[in-house]
Amino acid sequence: MSAADHADERFAPSAEFSAHALIRSRNDLNALCERAAREPEEFWGELARQELHWFEPFQRVLQWEAPFARWFVGGRTNVAYNCIDRHLASWRRNKAAIVWEGENGEQRILTFQELYREVARFANGLKSLGYGKGDRAIIYMPMVPEAAIAMLACARLGIIHSVVFGGFSPEAIKTRVDDLEANLAITADAGVRRGREVPLKRNMDQALRDCPGVRHCVVLHHRGARDAQGAAIGAMQATRDLWWHELVSGQSEQCAAEPLDSEHPLYVLYTSGTTGKPKGVVHTTAGYLLQCHMTMQWVFDLHEEDTYWCTADVGWVTGHSYIVYGPLSMGATTLMYEGAPDFPQPDRFWRVIEKYRVSVFYTSPTAIRSFIKTGDEWPQKHDLSSLRLLGSVGEPINPAAWRWYHKVIGGERCPIVDTWWQTETGSIMIAPVPGAVATKPGSATLPLPGVQADIIDSHGAPVGPGQQGYLVIRHPWPSMFRTLYRDDARYKEVYWSRFPGIYFTGDAARRDADGYFWVLGRVDDVINVSGHRLSTMEAESAMVRHPAVAEAAAVGKPHELKGQALVVFATVKSGRQRSPELSEELRDWIASEIGSFARPDEVRLVEALPKTRSGKIMRRLLRELVVSDKVSGDTTTLEDYSVILKLSSEGKEEEEILSEKKGS
Ligand code: WT7
Repeated sequence: MSAADHADERFAPSAEFSAHALIRSRNDLNALCERAAREPEEFWGELARQELHWFEPFQRVLQWEAPFARWFVGGRTNVAYNCIDRHLASWRRNKAAIVWEGENGEQRILTFQELYREVARFANGLKSLGYGKGDRAIIYMPMVPEAAIAMLACARLGIIHSVVFGGFSPEAIKTRVDDLEANLAITADAGVRRGREVPLKRNMDQALRDCPGVRHCVVLHHRGARDAQGAAIGAMQATRDLWWHELVSGQSEQCAAEPLDSEHPLYVLYTSGTTGKPKGVVHTTAGYLLQCHMTMQWVFDLHEEDTYWCTADVGWVTGHSYIVYGPLSMGATTLMYEGAPDFPQPDRFWRVIEKYRVSVFYTSPTAIRSFIKTGDEWPQKHDLSSLRLLGSVGEPINPAAWRWYHKVIGGERCPIVDTWWQTETGSIMIAPVPGAVATKPGSATLPLPGVQADIIDSHGAPVGPGQQGYLVIRHPWPSMFRTLYRDDARYKEVYWSRFPGIYFTGDAARRDADGYFWVLGRVDDVINVSGHRLSTMEAESAMVRHPAVAEAAAVGKPHELKGQALVVFATVKSGRQRSPELSEELRDWIASEIGSFARPDEVRLVEALPKTRSGKIMRRLLRELVVSDKVSGDTTTLEDYSVILKLSSEGKEEEEILSEKKGS
């Protein structure tokens, strides 16, 4: 399906939506964009003064020594203060800040005042253990309010946090603890998913086995988790582990927010790159918060009375920017749900929307596609009339899924904001401003104010309408990441060397005749599985750590629900036999090395991998093979073409064996 096929299908915002929107017309939006392009520093400087609380004003808006940026230089502020304290002076003190629902239907609602008390007590607890500005905390938590409380308590004190998604394995936690030199860990006994306990504390114990730098591990008593033998999951270690409730008991409910430099690191979030080692994306304080805050207005058109729900996990950047920091900074009510979308039945999301009268709903194309599959009867059982705006994030949304979302969930009444951004960009960069921009299914539409996005060819020249090219951003923006943690060289190399002075996103895109952006996907060895970024190199390095594996090559393959699925080709060491059982074992192996979301759809054990004469694995051929089961194109560099022929027939045979097994 090409972008051009859909360039004519348009959905203009209704007069009613626009009349109540924060930005009501294309003219108003254009005026903002033009101003931001003409005078970026005045534009962002004014917003920063107006929209954030400052303990000390900044002297200068931007200091840009490419590729290193400093925003709001000399200013002092605090993210937690902006997200909580400033709302306490108004009626918002008794407004719901966090509405939480657990998988079994448990419910908790924290007002801004209650959130303040919880954050203050936890921050005081951390202080009492000696933690403060510059320390580094790994947060490995389920989707509970305490995840946000832990993040905000760190932000309050200037402790740099790194949230690790609860689906990651002990191995992945350890890599992050080591890279960050974390000295504090925060976790829970367990989380829950489809009625099953996720043993977070046990994973943490395993990860920390060789991490002597971590002095304390604070454990939230969430599930009262017991394993099959009835013992608490993960025994508490006397000198290291503390229960959350014991730590906060008796702590003062007052805790002053630390006035932090605008550029103080707020968090490091690890994301996959093209090598085996995850990249520690560093976000800082003022610029990050400002752009999260502004995009809540520009993209989500946030109104005081909205109940806003982003279904991401706090472990991903979407959870940081659009469950915690952006919404709370705006004084919004943000909903958190711990559990699976289809538990106990496939209508769980729609039940939650109906129950809490959610008005703004933000989810992923993968989730939407799985809802389509389970059938319209599930959403149709529920009153979704509270919804007024829908959002999508994580991967390109295919037009068919877009139309379903619009019709069945949005009742043809709600604009859809397809939001393009990345862990690195910190906040949404390209998305429709819903009261002002007509949408087209599959297009993220136009760059937001202050975002100088462009599409260029390999020589750096802008490409014309309809032409495919590299998506880049030309001017620094406040919520941009500042570097990769303790690796300026890799930061320069990965993002700024291909087009000097210009940020390279790693995505391919094209623009249509209306100037709308159509993001096509990654151009590097990174794949997108259910909206989660996965490096094929990371999967390969995990694979060759298995004692039976000699060599491995991982590629992405289009997948009906997940967008892309991971397929790994591997050869075995001499003395080992290829078998369907070993394939299965290797799928589990990757899941345990990286995390369950990385479990490959297929591990194909083959006799040899196709290589160039210089010995490089030809992943392009493997990609073609998984798509079409045959190879075309230039194979003159292929060392041994017969390898490819063998691969296609072997793959087939193996499939036959597996389907036979299933059938029997
Ligand atoms: C990559 C970033 C942004 C938070 C979630 C993912 C792809 C993301 C879209 C979209 C097309 C998209 C891109 C991007 N992507 N949103 N609306 N349309 N592609 O964050 O893990 O940093 O991944 O996800 O390829 O580069 P991430």
